[in-house]
Amino acid sequence: MERLIFEYSRAGRRAHTLPDAPSVDFGWPERQALRLPEVSEIDVVRHYTRLSRQNYGVDNGFYPLGSCTMKYNPKVNEKFAEKFAGRNPQEADSANQDLLSKLYATERMLCQVFGYARFTLQPAAGAHGEFTGLLIIRAYHRDRGDARRTKILVPDAAHGTNPASCTLAGFQQVSIKSLQGGVDIADLKKHLDDTVAGLMLTNPNTLGLFEKNILQIADLVHTAGGLLYYDGANANATMGIAKPAAMGFDVCHINLHKTFSTPHGGGGPGAGPVGVSAALVPYLPCPVLDFAPEDGGHYYFNYALPKSIGQVHSFYGNVGVLLKAYAYLRIQGSAGLKKASALAVLNANYLKARLQKVYDIPYPRYCQHEFVISVQNFKKQYGVTAADIAKRLMDYGYHPPTVYFPLIVPECLMLEPTETEAKEELDAFCDALLQIAEEVRTNPALVKSAPHSTIIGRPDEVRAVKEPDLNYFNSLGVFSAYTR
Ligand SMILES: Cc1ncc(COP(=O)(O)O)c(C=O)c1O
Repeated sequence: MERLIFEYSRAGRRAHTLPDAPSVDFGWPERQALRLPEVSEIDVVRHYTRLSRQNYGVDNGFYPLGSCTMKYNPKVNEKFAEKFAGRNPQEADSANQDLLSKLYATERMLCQVFGYARFTLQPAAGAHGEFTGLLIIRAYHRDRGDARRTKILVPDAAHGTNPASCTLAGFQQVSIKSLQGGVDIADLKKHLDDTVAGLMLTNPNTLGLFEKNILQIADLVHTAGGLLYYDGANANATMGIAKPAAMGFDVCHINLHKTFSTPHGGGGPGAGPVGVSAALVPYLPCPVLDFAPEDGGHYYFNYALPKSIGQVHSFYGNVGVLLKAYAYLRIQGSAGLKKASALAVLNANYLKARLQKVYDIPYPRYCQHEFVISVQNFKKQYGVTAADIAKRLMDYGYHPPTVYFPLIVPECLMLEPTETEAKEELDAFCDALLQIAEEVRTNPALVKSAPHSTIIGRPDEVRAVKEPDLNYFNSLGVFSAYTR
């Protein structure tokens, strides 16, 4: 069991040997009487280096989470964003013209890629973008005196944030059935009436399938007076290939931390910009970032939007993240984005083709950037579940994929390789999954008791989330909540 830094502490041990009054100014902080562990410098370095090795990220290895694109973030993006790290958002717009020009250019590039009139860069995540977009839809209907529209239709394959955002934005969410991996048009028609404010859809959807009937769906919803919301979390499959605006979506969010290669996960900042068609521009959150061409031109935050839904983030969002996306967009260009999406789709189809010889793929047609496996047959025959297979993958050195999502597929694993993985990496991952399938048949107990190589094996996941026991001084029981 890993020891905490406090357990290395020995009275009087110190992390540095600087004199009390050094002749060189090391920028050392004032000495303070804090209750800190007393350890040597090498203890600290080794402790945190050890801990960092216990973490798993896309920089360590393959990270096949489905519906949650975890793609490699080129380090040049970080370098670029660092240049602006010292800026203060309280400064006058005139002092930040170079920074504002980058944000403005980011908005224009997103408009070009997705086909919208304008984007707000304020929302901090996909779910925050959904909330913002739904408030815009609500403002639009209310402004037209159509306050009866209180329902948002959401397919049953949708990501959990979709129904949650509907509720948060004051709508009633109504679930629409899926049929053969797409929207069940007959069920959709049953629900379309003058109380429907809109439909939320992910395309490609969470099964990794492109909604072939999207133009018919858009027509039906618009004819009923509703608007279409595009959950762009899966846009990594379609950059430069299919624009949501052309599919009929009036509002869209995209997850910069997925599609445009800014870091994701670990609770770090993200960005979920929201794009709108021309008719919805007046309702965008204020401020919007505008450009005045007079006197050589300048960028400024415009608060004069009487119909705006209001500000949804302090200042103008997570600017560091936006700058990384700017760098990614500029470096890729339109050809690079298109190629990234094409490779993401190719890699997913390659994995699917190799695995379908052994695993059950419930929707076997060509997939987009991700696809779903069901191991229901393993469960019936050998008692091995999707969670067991995910755990066993850790013994092979892989981060497990998404499990049990989407909810409409029993015992599912959802795989998304992304565009940056080479064929050898994909093959090694397939080999591991095929080997595990063999183990299921020959030694199911081995898979059911996995992982065998990690510090913690099968924590009580619900309890670890609901009752995290993270306070060393109170509990004195290291990781006790997770292992009890
Ligand atoms: C399809 C889909 N929609 C929405 C979201 C929510 O995005 P975020 O995690 O940035 O809030 C996700 C996240 O995984 C997703 O996969």
